[in-house]
Amino acid sequence: LNNGLALTPPMGWNSWNFFACNINETVIKETADALISTGLADLGYVHVNIDDCWSSTKRNSENQLVPDPKTFPLGIKDLADYVHAKGLKLGIYSDAGIFTCQVRPGSLYYENDDAEMFASWGVDYLKYDNCFNLGIKPEERYPPMRDALNGTGRTIFYSICDWGEDDPALWAGKLGNSWRTTDDINDSWASMTTIADLNDKWAAYAGPGGWNDPDMLEVGNGGMTYQEYRAHFSIWALMKAPLLIGCDVRNMTAETFEILTNKEVIAVNQDPLGVQGRKVHVTGTDGCLQVFPLLHPFLAYLNGATDCDMEYR
Ligand code: GLA
Ligand code: GLA
Repeated sequence: LNNGLALTPPMGWNSWNFFACNINETVIKETADALISTGLADLGYVHVNIDDCWSSTKRNSENQLVPDPKTFPLGIKDLADYVHAKGLKLGIYSDAGIFTCQVRPGSLYYENDDAEMFASWGVDYLKYDNCFNLGIKPEERYPPMRDALNGTGRTIFYSICDWGEDDPALWAGKLGNSWRTTDDINDSWASMTTIADLNDKWAAYAGPGGWNDPDMLEVGNGGMTYQEYRAHFSIWALMKAPLLIGCDVRNMTAETFEILTNKEVIAVNQDPLGVQGRKVHVTGTDGCLQVFPLLHPFLAYLNGATDCDMEYR
């Protein structure tokens, strides 16, 4: 999407992979604090993205979205002000259907009002999900929110989360700054590598302004080994994926921190040319030797995954 954003893939954090619905404004503020105090923000991790469950289960009497009064009593503008004061950006979540996946109100048919609300709160990034979509094609449901965001006059990153339905790489380049190419990741080597292979296919469609999104990082959540998480981070970096941390950055291990702060790997992801790296060679009956064309310093990070040996050339 030619809105001046995402000239390189976005970097930051999202609440879903670790917290799911267990979010509140304290968690979000402590996460913003931690991005600063750990130095992650200085490396480019500036997006603080709230996923599903921030909203009340019902709109108010004026049909407006309302933050859950128990978990977000001070509201979203307060959070936006808080993160902006630290030089960070605030992201929010809604759905191109009548409910979100966790059955909060969706924005289908309320695109203009909701976009205006997000802009008035100072939101910088919208992840727009695909649940309860009434069977309407994503090619019809995603453009109204792009137009609504554009109409607010605020520049807002538009993250299309249609799980790869109808191959969004083929049509979302003019709609969004990123588009999910697959179903949800989970914290396992099998999920991560399956998604990497599915995302690989769409490499030609990625570039400055619009990126394939193989879903958010699981690094630090405990389901993979240190070596597997290194491979995960390296593959996401070279695929020019959004680098959205999905762990609790208030409580990272030294190993998690080391992986997420590798400057050479981040530099591959943030290369201004914006060409998505592809897997160029697979060999062996188990398909385990996989070769990505990488730059020299990068190679070591793909070696040593426990189930498979990975090489770079
Ligand atoms: C969908 C999305 C996930 C997450 C959840 C929240 O599954 O694909 O990334 O946002 O909804 O309910
Ligand atoms: C703080 C602590 C964490 C954790 C959270 C829980 O951030 O640093 O260890 O206990 O609170 O909210």
